[in-house]
Amino acid sequence: MKKITIAIDGYSSCGKSTMAKDLAREIGYIYIDSGAMYRAVTLYCIEAGLFNGKSICTDELKSQMDQIKISFKLDEQTQRPRTQLNGKDVEESIRTMEVSSRVSIIAALDFVREALVRQQQEMGRAKGIVMDGRDIGTTVFPDAELKIFVTASPEIRAERRYKELTAKGEKVNFEEILTNVKERDYIDEHREVSPLRKADDALLLDNSHLTIAEQKKWLLDKFQQAIQ
Ligand code: DC
Repeated sequence: MKKITIAIDGYSSCGKSTMAKDLAREIGYIYIDSGAMYRAVTLYCIEAGLFNGKSICTDELKSQMDQIKISFKLDEQTQRPRTQLNGKDVEESIRTMEVSSRVSIIAALDFVREALVRQQQEMGRAKGIVMDGRDIGTTVFPDAELKIFVTASPEIRAERRYKELTAKGEKVNFEEILTNVKERDYIDEHREVSPLRKADDALLLDNSHLTIAEQKKWLLDKFQQAIQ
């Protein structure tokens, strides 16, 4: 059966990653979370002391980009990939509020995007891949056979994120998360390099009021149509 490229883009915390991971597992494709790569670079910057308050030492980061190696290792138990930064498992530490509140700054840097987009295109060379992010259908894989653009209301997304973080034991405040979701939407949509936007040929999926099962069926139907 022919293998295709599937690009899933959309707003933060609208369940893109879970959806993309489940789809990839179901159809036997590789799954790549491109947001995890921007998060890993952000974590590197925090650990290397490259942030000065909310601003970043751009020149230092530029000179250290070659030292930042990001890869994914399959978790045998869950069958899901775990993000590795310079050989260290960072799957949990890239999902904290500290990283979330700084990642948009890193994702707006053109030289970071160029380096990560190059790696993402390399990962997708053999097709049979589901990649999720913000610019996958527009910049990384403009020729992807199936493009999905996911959205949900900011309140619903903040609620999902709140539940996810409290389940992990993080002490978080709903209003703070909602503000973070809206801020990230704004920065993602308004940055100069690869702003978040729906590719003209992407299918729109608003999952505000869809169950996981309904969403899964919708996606599998679209996948079946795309491989015909
Ligand atoms: O999907 P996420 O919340 O884990 O993404 C983290 C950040 O990275 C988010 O602020 C947007 C940015 N990002 C991006 O600019 N381009 C991508 N392809 C993926 C994520």
